[in-house]
Amino acid sequence: MKPLKIILCDSNETLPKLWKKYLTQGILKNNTSLCIHHGRFDSLMASIKGNEKNYGMSYAIVSPGNSLGYLGGGFDLALRNYFGGVEFESWFREQLGYEYHTVGSATVVDISKCGLDVTQKCRGGMKYIIHCPTMISPGKPIFDEKNPIETGYQPVFNAMWNGLMHVTKDIDGLIIPGLCTGYAGVPPIISCKSTAFALRLYRLEGLISKELRNVLIMYFLGHPYEPFFLESCKEECKRLGISMDNITSFDIQENSLNDILPVNLEIEGQ
Ligand code: ADP
Ligand code: NA
Ligand code: NA
Repeated sequence: MKPLKIILCDSNETLPKLWKKYLTQGILKNNTSLCIHHGRFDSLMASIKGNEKNYGMSYAIVSPGNSLGYLGGGFDLALRNYFGGVEFESWFREQLGYEYHTVGSATVVDISKCGLDVTQKCRGGMKYIIHCPTMISPGKPIFDEKNPIETGYQPVFNAMWNGLMHVTKDIDGLIIPGLCTGYAGVPPIISCKSTAFALRLYRLEGLISKELRNVLIMYFLGHPYEPFFLESCKEECKRLGISMDNITSFDIQENSLNDILPVNLEIEGQ
């Protein structure tokens, strides 16, 4: 099976630079299934549609939205503008059941089922929007510099992970903007590190055990709990050449992702 194509897209130039930085030693080298687009969403769409190789491909788009499902700002506004304006927004909110969707949830909306002509004419291979609220409302940022783990690294990681976990088999590519780096106010350096970690772990699917993946996430997110670090995972770390000390003493702000990831395996697995 072909690996899921990951397309990271942001109009703010800082994000592409930092994504590259954190992905370089992991999955970026010679990797055709990862693409970083610096530019606006509509320019990404133009380049996808203009490339014959993408014919017949289906995509899902991660939308770092709000709990009420409005699409009036940030990346969501780019989606609204592209897919049919306020009428599209109304249809989108109807699909969300006009419900309150909690931060950290994910709802998959199938835009191939949208009855608006404009949407069907422009959507190309775009099939789903995965609505991942990163804030209740854009009224104030979520980030607090005194608490960067809980208000920065964690919400970004969780939104990214949620997006990845909701990709279905009929999807060839996943489009992701900077997460929490707009209205939510998380510094790009924090957001990109969390996003890169989630992507690199995702790419290790089948190469490391799910249990070890969970352990790495737990320590990465700053919630160490020894009893969850199973013996079998410790053995696995030895085999993979990951230092257990690096994991148990991992400090998200100080340490490198390469300290807790099996870099050699990542490169081989490409
Ligand atoms: P959040 O609420 O999670 O902060 P935003 O939608 O406000 O989400 O911002 C997410 C990212 O989307 C930001 O990094 C911002 O630079 C980017 N962004 C905003 N508009 C566009 C656009 N038209 N094309 C590409 N990226 C965009
Ligand atoms: Na948004
Ligand atoms: Na948001």
